[in-house]
Amino acid sequence: MRQTQITALVSLPILLGVSWAVSAQDFSDGPTIRMLEDRLEQDDVAFNATVDRTPDDDLLEVGRLVAMGGAENGGSGMACITCHGVDGHGDGSGAFPRLDGQPGWYLDKQLVDYTSGARPNQVMSAIAERLTEYEMEAVSAYYGAMPTGTIPKHGDVEGTRLQWGGQLAAVGSAEKGIPACVNCHGPSGTGLAPSVPYLAGQYASYMALQLELWKEGVRDNDAMNVMSSIARKMDESDMDAVAEYYARVTRDGAAIDPDMAVTE
Ligand code: HEC
Ligand code: HEC
Repeated sequence: MRQTQITALVSLPILLGVSWAVSAQDFSDGPTIRMLEDRLEQDDVAFNATVDRTPDDDLLEVGRLVAMGGAENGGSGMACITCHGVDGHGDGSGAFPRLDGQPGWYLDKQLVDYTSGARPNQVMSAIAERLTEYEMEAVSAYYGAMPTGTIPKHGDVEGTRLQWGGQLAAVGSAEKGIPACVNCHGPSGTGLAPSVPYLAGQYASYMALQLELWKEGVRDNDAMNVMSSIARKMDESDMDAVAEYYARVTRDGAAIDPDMAVTE
């Protein structure tokens, strides 16, 4: 049953992934989205989530309660909304990632990874460890089912930096061996459910930090080292540029507004 469900979940991205793989460039010798998804299909140990694509109302209600701080082993500091917001948008500071509309399967995997130590984080590991497996699933489905709202406000950024970020996203860098992000994160950064998160409209400082953590080997939860091998080829300004770029991409795929936040 579990295997069937996982197979059903990954078959769609495989189909979609093929068309991107032929259209987008890949300068790296890293795994393709297809290889990644094939692995997910085989590996139901590391990927033991059973988040349904269309969660039922009971699951969503449990998820809502957990988000409000009502987990069984709840208590102070357990309410997700305190940091991630009632609407899943975080608090605007960029310290807390947006969760709204992120694939439930991906979110659930992160919670499991926080408990296993594959993605150690002082705050989130302590919280995730107090959730039951069912509560992780429920709260992930709850945030995953939320409509994605408008993108957060941004500070200024240099036009040339934004341009470099856009180039890394769309075509990568042959010189540095960095693959185009769109290969896996989708043509406009909207992600690829169930396993690839959206980047469009996510906080820049959060995304840059994750790339840095992968480079340092602290976050070590990516299948086939897909993200760590990419992050190791990036310097701090590459990370910054691509993160600032994606933070400004609107979710409907419209181009970013070049006048929005560009300085000298
Ligand atoms: C005290 C603040 C705080 C609370 C409360 C909190 N989080 Fe977090 N959360 C964070 C921070 C900080 C991060 C980023 C950590 C990192 O760098 O890995 C994060 C990251 C996450 C991520 C990873 C998102 C991604 O895009 O990979 C998930 C999933 C998540 N939190 C779910 C939850 C859930 C579910 C709850 C409630 C049960 C919760 N959080 C409560 C601060 C919090
Ligand atoms: C071959 C596929 C692939 C390519 C190419 C790729 N990614 Fe990823 N990315 C993934 C997967 C899969 C994950 C989820 C890893 C996990 O399970 O935690 C991810 C996660 C991320 C995250 C974490 C998001 C979060 O919410 O925590 C960031 C940031 C990111 N990628 C940025 C990039 C950037 C920038 C590029 C281009 C330079 C890129 N990725 C290219 C597959 C890819």
